[in-house]
Amino acid sequence: MRQPLIAGNWKMNGSHDSINELLDGILAGLGTAVKAEVAVCVPYVYLQQVSEKLKGTTLAWGAQNVNDNDAGAYTGEISGSMLKDFDCKYVIVGHSERRIIYGESDEDVAARFKAAQAHGFVPILCVGELSEERESGMTNKVVARQLDAIINHAGTDAIGDCVIAYEPVWAIGTGKVATPGQAQEVHAMIRARLAHLSPDVAAQVRILYGGSMKPDNAGELIRMNDIDGGLIGGASLQAEDFLGICMAAN
Ligand code: PGA
Repeated sequence: MRQPLIAGNWKMNGSHDSINELLDGILAGLGTAVKAEVAVCVPYVYLQQVSEKLKGTTLAWGAQNVNDNDAGAYTGEISGSMLKDFDCKYVIVGHSERRIIYGESDEDVAARFKAAQAHGFVPILCVGELSEERESGMTNKVVARQLDAIINHAGTDAIGDCVIAYEPVWAIGTGKVATPGQAQEVHAMIRARLAHLSPDVAAQVRILYGGSMKPDNAGELIRMNDIDGGLIGGASLQAEDFLGICMAAN
């Protein structure tokens, strides 16, 4: 049995005050009713605040990226050993905004994935196709390529210790959510590809869906066989919406 994971991706949003308010709201609503594991991936500069506030609670936290080098002349970057100072559990790697806006290649993502695991974090590896790739029937090919880059660099067993997030790029922040059938098809393809290499890894790894997930569509998505939770952008910035998705995972 894979415990569902609902992870918030705050992206470049929040302030000291708004984060206090958001976390108060989420913590007040989490209680014992939520059966999913719940996490928030926050901007680096708020990790101190978030780690102090969440220590000893059931809400886990993480970062949104990590550099593959440990220290040195990499202006603007953050290393895994730095993140260790803030007790992160998760680190998102390969988000489509990193791939598209900041030009991170499959190889860059693989190196960052490996660095995250080397420091003891659980990478949330994002994969997903562009709308033109879906329209030209390339979805499975693109997602398989992104996944294979990690397997080739870090090995199959490393996938067993990560979380995969299938995020069709056309669904991110657009309100155009994938249908449960569309998402399940890709999730099943990912799991089948892994099963070919290791049935254990395939059975164990959690595969989240991400892209315009909201309280009113989360239930039908997470009910699909191979969908083990969600990576939530916009709806993770409001306690009520985020909690609604957590409850839908029950
Ligand atoms: P969204 O973002 O929920 O706002 O579509 C998801 C993500 O980018 O992880």
